[in-house]
Amino acid sequence: MFHAEITGWGKCVPPAVLSNQDLTTFMDTTDEWITSRTGIKERRICHCNFSDMAIVAAKQALAAADLDPKELDLILLGSLTNDSLCPNTASLVQDAIGATNAASLDINSACTGFLYGLHIGTNLIKTGAHKKVLVLGGEFISHYMNWTNRDVAVLFGDACGAVVIEQTDQEVGLLAAKIGCEADAKYAIQITNLGSAYSRFTEDFLYVDWNFEGQEVFKRAIRCMAQACADVLEETGLTVDDIKLVVPHQANKRILDALAKRVGLPPEKVFINVHKYGNTSAGTIPVALTEALEEDRVAPGDYVLIATFGAGLTWGAGLIRWGDRVKPLQVSTAELPPTDKTALEIIQPQIDKYKDRNQFSL
Ligand code: UT7
Repeated sequence: MFHAEITGWGKCVPPAVLSNQDLTTFMDTTDEWITSRTGIKERRICHCNFSDMAIVAAKQALAAADLDPKELDLILLGSLTNDSLCPNTASLVQDAIGATNAASLDINSACTGFLYGLHIGTNLIKTGAHKKVLVLGGEFISHYMNWTNRDVAVLFGDACGAVVIEQTDQEVGLLAAKIGCEADAKYAIQITNLGSAYSRFTEDFLYVDWNFEGQEVFKRAIRCMAQACADVLEETGLTVDDIKLVVPHQANKRILDALAKRVGLPPEKVFINVHKYGNTSAGTIPVALTEALEEDRVAPGDYVLIATFGAGLTWGAGLIRWGDRVKPLQVSTAELPPTDKTALEIIQPQIDKYKDRNQFSL
């Protein structure tokens, strides 16, 4: 029986910081409202392409594993904000890192894209079909933001994370996962005016906007993640006392507090970085996992629980047993191209575009 050990991990967070205070300069909101309702204090804004972030995260993960990219046989990239529909972004990553022997596939299950990819990659390794897989999750969500929609614009940020998983005989890696989808609520999070279901002959086309039923998502997120956590614990015969750390999807601190309570976990076992980055969708878990390792929150042999939900409404949980190594073997010097722009300067043309549009529509 094969398993799939996580041997490398890495992240890329763009340097431009958009604070709650920055948002109040062009939107009817307050730091107090955002902090008390979500726990978010700031988020990052990407100044380049999504693939640039994915490539940096991939190089960090490969260095941590000290793996020659030519040994990778599969790249799975979870995202809904890929550089283009065609070619897919996993191909761009493959080319940039020199993973010439890897099949390359984008996965779009929104915020759950990393866990979906980890589950698929792990099971392909378990069957023997693949041996060394790069799994990425990330988002350039600010690209799709309507900055005049305060219900949504305060919640999200940009980032990407990655892990390398490799075949092993040891019982480590993703030991169990439960993934699913409550498609009756598929329109509770919806990005509109982009995609082939929208008429390209109307003025609205490409004025991307969001339908967002926050409270509906909030309730379902807690219920689905709690049930999925219970399922993977039952499948592995473990209890919450065996769990060293939970690394959940970082959408809202209140959701994380409620999840911990529902699952019966003390708050100190829950890794939280939502205050720094907001919701980076498919990026939250690989970025948080990388930071948990950087902060020595994971020791060899620890059980780590991950839980997530997102548009679809897709959901899932996974139970990871960490291997022998919690330190990177190498560190990559890869980084994003520099920018001298502030986050506000990067998004200003987009703010103007939507403000003009709203004026025109009135
Ligand atoms: O990864 C999946 C992505 N989705 C999620 O994570 C969404 C999960 N849901 C949530 O996190 C929460 O439901 C939100 C943070 C989105 C909203 O929190 P809430 O406590 O459910 O607020 P609410 O929707 O009940 O809104 C309360 C009020 C409304 O005003 P009225 O109608 O009560 O006068 C909103 O208009 O807050 C108002 N509001 C704002 N006020 C200031 C909404 N957005 C803002 C804002 N600043 N940015």
